[in-house]
Amino acid sequence: MDSKDARECLESGGGARCRCGNGRRKALAVFVIQGLLTAACAALSINIYLSQKHGASEQTDTGIYMMMTSPKLDGDEPRFKILWNQTVDLYDEKRVKLPCGGPYMVYLWACMKTLQTNDKVANLTIETGDKSFHLQTLQANECKEMQKVIMLSDRNEVTMKVKHDEGTIQITELLFGLHYMLGSQCFPTPLDEESYKRVSTG
Ligand SMILES: *[C@@H]1O[C@H](CO)[C@@H](O)[C@H](O)[C@H]1NC(C)=O
Ligand SMILES: *[C@@H]1O[C@H](CO)[C@@H](O)[C@H](O)[C@H]1NC(C)=O
Repeated sequence: MDSKDARECLESGGGARCRCGNGRRKALAVFVIQGLLTAACAALSINIYLSQKHGASEQTDTGIYMMMTSPKLDGDEPRFKILWNQTVDLYDEKRVKLPCGGPYMVYLWACMKTLQTNDKVANLTIETGDKSFHLQTLQANECKEMQKVIMLSDRNEVTMKVKHDEGTIQITELLFGLHYMLGSQCFPTPLDEESYKRVSTG
């Protein structure tokens, strides 16, 4: 007990009870400070965790994953509903708008049933601007999966086409996804029509 504590004790007429009270007060203070530090630390950790989680999903994921909603095609185009998407939009259940130009992982699972003869095939392609990419050829009564990386532009919308002989096939299942491969490195397609004109006209 220091001299100040001792004086306070004598003034309040305390003795042994006083020393005990002082010790309890100190223990209580340490306990309260410890509690406050723990709470502050927990709050900081939660804050860091949430900001990292938020930042990560915003910066690294750009894509869409969709499921065909009906085996009936709209012309040669399937209709989709979104199962997951991040900064990629779907319009009229068919047209996908991409925010970045560059490499995309394109992947799908599909099943086809023929209703009459067994020699029919369906070709699944995606079309964007004046480009067309073949994805998969489905034979009669089979399910297939595929994946490939292709360069896509943010300038044109992307649509899927099912090219087949009319009336004889049915796509019974179709799950289709596009995922941007460069994470947060998202830029517009660097080449435009002028770039192609410059090289073609010399
Ligand atoms: C998912 O797509 C819908 C329809 O285009 C759009 O309204 C929505 O903003 C997209 N969600 C995200 C997280 O990008
Ligand atoms: C499907 O594609 C193959 C080649 O990839 C082609 O020979 C065939 O004619 C196509 N069939 C249809 C119905 O588009």
